[in-house]
Order: sequence, then structure tokens, then C-alpha cells
Amino acid sequence: MPVCDLDKRVPHGKKVLGIDVVVWWDRNENAWKVFDDACPHRLAPLSEGRIDQWGRLQCVYHGWCFNGSGDCKFIPQAPTDGPPIHTNKKACVAAYPTTMQNGIVWFWPNSDPQYKDVLAEKKPPYIPELDDPSYSGPMGNREIPYGYEVLIENLMDPAHVPYAHYGIMQTRQPKEKADREGGRPLDLSVEKLDINGFIAKQEWGRSKFLPPCVFYASPLAPLDQGNGAASSAETKKVSSAQRRILLIFICIPVSPGNSRLIWTFPRNFGIWIDKIVPRWMFHIGQNLILDSDLYLLHVELQCRIQRSESARSCIAVCCFCFSGNCCRNQAGCHISGCKNYARCSSYTIICSFKMVGLLYLQTVSLS
Ligand code: FES
Ligand SMILES: [Fe+2]
Repeated sequence: MPVCDLDKRVPHGKKVLGIDVVVWWDRNENAWKVFDDACPHRLAPLSEGRIDQWGRLQCVYHGWCFNGSGDCKFIPQAPTDGPPIHTNKKACVAAYPTTMQNGIVWFWPNSDPQYKDVLAEKKPPYIPELDDPSYSGPMGNREIPYGYEVLIENLMDPAHVPYAHYGIMQTRQPKEKADREGGRPLDLSVEKLDINGFIAKQEWGRSKFLPPCVFYASPLAPLDQGNGAASSAETKKVSSAQRRILLIFICIPVSPGNSRLIWTFPRNFGIWIDKIVPRWMFHIGQNLILDSDLYLLHVELQCRIQRSESARSCIAVCCFCFSGNCCRNQAGCHISGCKNYARCSSYTIICSFKMVGLLYLQTVSLS
């Protein structure tokens, strides 16, 4: 979740990878915490609770209180002269390893103590421009009623833009238009492809996929040029050759058929605009774009589920497998041995852009 959309005064209920979690601000440790959204007493959602006057997370049902490690610190019904039953392990709530990076709260979706320090080694994907003060761009997020696999594929699919977003997004027009919208063959190529993702070149710039959830593009300059070093754009004018804008999309698998999108378009020019234009005004434009293909994609997914088409779900499961801990092979998919892989390939090869995804899957399966 983007921190800009989290209120420190209250707990927030979220779902990620099918896990219901509560996100809350622990003022004693000055850190965001992510717990199971179920009280160990009677499983009431902790996200309906409150932060008490000592900064603990309090369950709203019977008032049990928890510290930032998930330890139960107070059971109001327990006699003060009785045994300290709140110290019983069964009174603890599962806490996930959590970190804040690029203005986003990330957590490791396994609360087993063996992963307690996992985020010291395995960091979320880092985008330097998001911490660079010479860049500016509001962030937004939205719950989406179609799955992660449809969402990420849609973001990588430029062919739909002149049609699904007609009149909302501008696209380069062909010399001779065959229709009102100006759809045309698109020139796409893969410049780099390995276990860490891919960089693709398009006419207008480059796009980069950092599996499993970050996709971003830069229309104005190569993606690998920026090193994130802060320059003082506040005081220095950026020449047109130095102008950069990134289109950053972070796709979160919520549950089958549901996802969450975080977007931000940081740029190193015209940053004064963000100081006078409120964030909600940017959200209007972005949500208009999301709205214009939302119904198509929702119905597309429902249709595929009804027809038991497994091609996309194969991609999805494979993508989930990238992170090694997401689907936990519950769908029985192992990338190199996936029975649906051939179907997946034949489906994916239809579109040259989706070839990028196919090549990536193959690379991952070989490595
Ligand atoms: S269910 Fe949470 S205190 Fe009873
Ligand atoms: Fe779209």
C-alpha cells in the first residue's frame, strides 16, 4: 500500500495473495506493521479495531491489545491477580516481516519465524526516481475486479490503447488511417531478457518488467540511464534533452479475479505543478483510463473462467511461481513441468508483444 493512502490513526484491512492482513502504524517502533487480520481470541478482524492510547493495536470485540511484534500485552477480562495468560503463545497474532520502501509498505507473505529477517536480504524492487527529490509525481492506488494476470498483461499491451481508451489517451497516428482510432502495426523488440525480467523497446521509448509485479516505461529516455542521483531540479532548469518521465505500475495479486494497482508517473520537469494541483485531480484522469477498459477485462476474465481456458491462468500461476512463495504450487504448477505450458505458448505467440512474456517465461523455466 502507498503510505500516502494510509492513515496512521487507524488500522487498515487489506488482502494480498489471498491473505487477509491488517496494516497499522506502530508509533512505539515508528514503523508500519502487517499482521494477520484475525484476532487470536475469537478471530474478529483486527482491522475493525483501534490504536489505543499506548499505541497498541486493540481488538474491537473484547479489547485484547497487541504490540508491534504481535505479542498480546493485555486481556481486560483476565484477573490481575491471576496467571499472566496474555503471555501464552496462543494469544499472539501472526506478524509478517514488513518494510517501507519508495513510499510503499511491503511485507513478506509468510509469518514463520524463520523469515523474520528475510527483508534484510530480499528487498522489494527499488526504483531510485521515487526517492529522488528532483522528481515529482503523485501516487495512486485502486482495487481492480480482474486478476493480476489480466492487469499486468493489459499494461504491457499497447495495441488496445487507441481503441479501449479512445478519446482519453493520445496515441501516435499512422500516416494512412484505416479507421477512426488509428490502430496500426506496432514495432516492438526485446533488448534484454534474463531471470531479472526484460527491457523492451518500442517506438516511443522503453519498458521494463521486474517480476513479479513491477512494470514501468519511459517514453523520453532509456530506462537504464538514470542512476537515481539527486539533482537539484528545484533550482536548476532541466533541459528538454534531460527530461525524463516514468510510468510506473505495481500490480498486486489480491485474490483470484482481484488485483490492486499502484501507479505513479514521476518526472523531473514541471514539478511545480504537483505543488498547486491537488492529488485527486490526477486521480480523475487515471481512473478514467482504468474505467475505460475495466469492464472489458472483468468480463474477459469471467468468460475465460467459464470456458475453463487455462492459458492465462497458466501464465498467472507461472508468474506467481516467480516469487517462489506465492501460489505454493497449490495449483500444481511447476514452471518447467507445467502441463499447460504448450497451450500457454501457443496462446502467447499470437501477439508479438506477448512474445516478450513468453520469452521471459522460457528463460525462467530454463534457469
Ligand atoms: S475476538 Fe478479539 S478480543 Fe475477542
Ligand atoms: Fe488499458
